Amino acid sequence: MEKKISRVKRIKGELRVPSDKSISHRSIILTSLADGISIVKNFLKAGDTLTTLNVYRKLGVSIIEEKGVLKVKGVNLKGYREPEDVLDMGNSGTTTRLTLGLLSGQDFFSALTGDDSLRQRPMGRVADPLRSMGAKIDGRQNGKLLPLSVRGSSLRGIQFYNKKSSAQVKSALLIAGLLAEGKTKVTEPYISRDHTEKMLEAMGADIQIDRDNEYSVTISGSKKLEGIEIDVPADPSSAAFFAAAAVLIPDSELLLKDVLINPTRDGFFRKLKEMGGNIQYLNIREKAKEPVADIHVKYSPELKGIQIKKEDVPSMVDEIPLLSMIATQAEGETIITGAEELRVKESDRIKAVVDNLRNLGIDVEELPDGMIIKGKQKIKGGVVDSYKDHRIAMGFSILGLISEEGIKIKDADSVFISYPEFYEHLEKIILN
Ligand code: S3P
Repeated sequence: MEKKISRVKRIKGELRVPSDKSISHRSIILTSLADGISIVKNFLKAGDTLTTLNVYRKLGVSIIEEKGVLKVKGVNLKGYREPEDVLDMGNSGTTTRLTLGLLSGQDFFSALTGDDSLRQRPMGRVADPLRSMGAKIDGRQNGKLLPLSVRGSSLRGIQFYNKKSSAQVKSALLIAGLLAEGKTKVTEPYISRDHTEKMLEAMGADIQIDRDNEYSVTISGSKKLEGIEIDVPADPSSAAFFAAAAVLIPDSELLLKDVLINPTRDGFFRKLKEMGGNIQYLNIREKAKEPVADIHVKYSPELKGIQIKKEDVPSMVDEIPLLSMIATQAEGETIITGAEELRVKESDRIKAVVDNLRNLGIDVEELPDGMIIKGKQKIKGGVVDSYKDHRIAMGFSILGLISEEGIKIKDADSVFISYPEFYEHLEKIILN
């Protein structure tokens, strides 16, 4: 589906964007490990999280929905069922990597595959450390790419230093650590999103966090976990698109309700504020052990370019493409480095941003690990290839709202992966 987004006069209103994708995945994967029933309110129903729901049903987990609330009946660490067929992980890296950790410690055989994008994404980053725990994983290119097979086996705890900081790698190893003998310790130079360790701790897992210069989580194996209740807040990665629109479009004002502001996730909002964005957290409170706020955003005519460095990346990894688009409207240059991880997301997001910005007539310099964007550039309009990547489609849709002649987005229906209602929500807040 192709979608044309045209210039608008202003946007205004209130939105509760869909629930957090990372917490929704974990609200099934982690609670399925419990010895007991968990209740999940406000589960995100979007492409990626529905993949998780289907996969865990195929692994024998009972997940029922009653009046919009999910009940997940945990199987107590090792009570999963051998799947009858290859598990289809769709577009979801999170489902794949976390589930690889879980399947490595079961007593059965399983096979996993995914769509064209997922089959190109690196799985060695989880398969290699899992193998050093005793996992038997094989697949394409020596077990580095999907399709992968897992012959479940007994695992032993390891100490692993992950110099790339990744929540998916950390989570896969912590899940495998639960199923392993002894302790498993994962260290990363900069903290990546910490929902896994928070949720497992709430379920009664034996977890120790160390924050010296770096960040480490240690988990003990073979502990019984309890069911919990989770109310999933709104996704900051989805709220970011509308915050960007409000900041860029004259006279605009938005209230984004119920948004997760966990410091491992809200880097985009902090950086946008640093650029001169008119952003305020209101009504800060706690929901399911996570900090949440209503975010008030207003038009911000005096944005300034900034620098994004390696240490800034984990807390805004999925929002960097959007920030680079906003940077085209700021005063001065924005320099993004240390973000080579973007090359192995749902698409090569550095190339996707640079090529599309250039097609729209915008001057941008590509770096191996980021880009340099000149500010105060006019956006004439044109055609954007989303590369079937939901965040590229949504980011350029926002730029369409300030373009002179409109932007056509190819494969705009990819927004279904994290935000199926994106274009309806956009219609709701446009005042022409
Ligand atoms: C995610 C972690 C991030 C992020 C992805 C979701 C998660 O990846 O890009 O969209 O839910 O754990 P890495 O932390 O592995 O880079």
